[in-house]
Amino acid sequence: MCGIVGYIGSEQAAPILLEGLKMLEYRGYDSAGVSVHDGCRLNVIKAKGRLQALSDMIDGGKAVCGACGIGHTRWATHGKPSDENSHPQVSNSGNIAVVHNGIIENYLQLKDFLSSRGVKFHSETDTEVVAQLVDYYYEGDLLKAVHKAIDRIEGSYALGIMAADQPDKIVGVRKDSPLIVACSENGNFLASDVTAVLKHTRDVIYLDDGNYAVLSLKGVEIYDSFLRPIDKKISHVDWDISSAEKGGYEHFMFKEIMEQPEVIRKTIAPRIRNKKIVLDEINLSSDFIKSLSKIYIVACGSSYHVGMVAKYNIEKLTRKPVEVALASEFRYCSPIVDNKTLVVCISQSGTTADTIAALREAKRLGGRVLSIVNVVGSTIAKESDDVIYTWAGPEIAVATTKAYSTQLAVTYLLGIYLADCLGTIDKDEYERFLNEIMTIPDKVESILKGKGHIQYLASLYFNNQDIFFIGRNIDYALSLEGSLKLKEISYIHSEAYAAGELKHGTISLVEDGTLVIAVATYQKLLEKTISNIVEVKARDAQVLSLTTESGKPLVGQVSDNMIVIPDIDELFLPSLAVVPLQLFAYYVALMRGCDIDKPRNLAKSVTVE
Ligand code: F6R
Repeated sequence: MCGIVGYIGSEQAAPILLEGLKMLEYRGYDSAGVSVHDGCRLNVIKAKGRLQALSDMIDGGKAVCGACGIGHTRWATHGKPSDENSHPQVSNSGNIAVVHNGIIENYLQLKDFLSSRGVKFHSETDTEVVAQLVDYYYEGDLLKAVHKAIDRIEGSYALGIMAADQPDKIVGVRKDSPLIVACSENGNFLASDVTAVLKHTRDVIYLDDGNYAVLSLKGVEIYDSFLRPIDKKISHVDWDISSAEKGGYEHFMFKEIMEQPEVIRKTIAPRIRNKKIVLDEINLSSDFIKSLSKIYIVACGSSYHVGMVAKYNIEKLTRKPVEVALASEFRYCSPIVDNKTLVVCISQSGTTADTIAALREAKRLGGRVLSIVNVVGSTIAKESDDVIYTWAGPEIAVATTKAYSTQLAVTYLLGIYLADCLGTIDKDEYERFLNEIMTIPDKVESILKGKGHIQYLASLYFNNQDIFFIGRNIDYALSLEGSLKLKEISYIHSEAYAAGELKHGTISLVEDGTLVIAVATYQKLLEKTISNIVEVKARDAQVLSLTTESGKPLVGQVSDNMIVIPDIDELFLPSLAVVPLQLFAYYVALMRGCDIDKPRNLAKSVTVE
C-alpha cells in the first residue's frame, strides 16, 4: 500500500526521494508527493497518478532544491485519489508536513476538536489531522509536538514529519505499520520498506511500535514511547539490490515465477539435515505437539490458498483436525482457540492488517502462534511465538508467485515434522517424503522449460470473458489460486469451484465455448473429476486440463487441450501444478496488454482492515 521515504544529507533530496519511491511503486499506489526544505521554506509538490507524473513536474527532482525531505506514494483510503488528498499533508499555517501509512481511526473526533478551535481542513484524508494536530501542539520542539499528538491518536501509523522552521530535521514514529531508519555515508534515511534505501546502504534499524526517530545531519537518534533515548540493533540486509530489480525481465512477476526452483531449494534444503527435518528456529515441545487438540491456519488471499492445501495435507499426515480461516473473518467468528491450539499464520509481507489482528486475537485466547513469513522482522514475525521464514527474497510483483511456492514448501516441512513427532507416519514414509520433497525444485525447473506450450494455450483463450476452474481436494485449493492469479492480473471474470459442487448451481453459467480449466492431478479422485469434466463438455464447454504423466491417458480423452506435469507424491503436487497456472495467468494478461506488476486497485501489502 502506501510508501514512505525520508532523506537528510549532503545530496539534493528530491532525486533521492523519487528514486526511493520508485522502489516502493510495487506496493500499489494512486498518487505521490514530496516535501523538500530549501533552507528557507518547505516546498510541497504532489500529483495524482503515476510517480512519473510527479517526476515530470519537478524535472526528475532537479527543479527542487534542498537536502532534507520526505516523500510518499498513496493508496487511497480516506478520500479519492487527487492532488489535495495526496501526501505530504500540510497544516494550515504551512509549518508542518506529514507523510503517513496506516489509518487514523479517531480522525473524525480529532477533526471536530481542531475545527472547534478554528482549524480549517482542506482534504478528505485522515492524515491531515496529524499535520494539524502536530501544528496545534508545536512550540518550537518538533519531537515534543509529535509526542503530544501521538498521545491523542488512535489507529495505525508510520509517520514522517517535518517543520518549516526546522530545515534539518525529520521525525518518524510508528505503530502497527512498518518503518525503518538507516545511515549511509551521504545521509540518513527513513522508509517504510528496506527496498527504498538499498541503493545507499544495507544496514538498517527496524523501529518497533512506539519508537520515535529523529533524523538530522549528525545521524539518527531513537527514543522509546516516553522519549527516553534507546539503542537499537542494526540489522544487515543480506539480499542484494538486484533481487529487487527486474534483471532483464520484462516484468517482476515473470522474473519471480522463474526464480521458483531456486527459492524453493533455499527454503527446503537447509532444513533437511542428515535425513531429518530440522526446524531449529521453532520451539514446539513434543508434549505440546502431542497435546494439540486442533490446528488453525489463518491467512488472506493467496496465503489462505496455501492454507487450504496445508489443511488437506496436514490433516492427512497428522490426523489432527485442521481448520483454515480467512484472517478477516477469524476474529469475528468466535474462534474456538485455547492452549491446546496451534494457530499458523501465513503471510508474505508480515504486515497484513487482518492477519495481524487474527494473530493478536489467537494469542488473547491462549493459542500458540506459529507464523510462516517472508519479510524478516515484520510485525507478524515479531509478534508470533515461533516463526519459520520462507526464503523467497523480496517479492515485488503484486501478484504473489514465489512467496506462495515457498509457503507451500514450509507447510510440507511442518506437516511431516508434526506427523513424525506424533508417530502418525512410519520411518519409510518419512524417508520417502524427504526424498520426494527434494525433487520439487528440479521438477519445477522442467515445467518452466515448457512455458512455450502454455504461452500457446494462452493465445487460444486470452479473449474469453469468463473462465471457470474446477478441481477436487488439493486440486480445488489449486483452482482457487489459479483463478485468483488469472483475475487479479488479466481482469477476466473467473471463479473456482470444487468440481463436485458445480452442478449445484454454477453449471447454469456454462455454455457453448465457456472455458473450464480442470485441475486433475490428484490421482485418487481422477475418475470423479473426469465425470465432472464430462458434465461440462456435455454443455459444450471448452476444457483445458492440467494433469500428471500418470493422469494423461485418461484425462486426455475428455479434454480439448492439456498441460502435463511430472509425477510426484500427491502431498507435493501443488508445488508443480501451480506453476503452469501462474504462467497461464501471466501470458493471458500479457496478451491483453495489462499492467501485470501493478494491477488496478491492488496493493502489495494490505495494511488496512
Ligand atoms: C495475490 C496476493 C494476495 C496476498 C494477500 C495476503 O496474488 O498476493 O492475495 O496473498 O494479500 O498477503 P500476505 O501474504 O502478505 O499476508
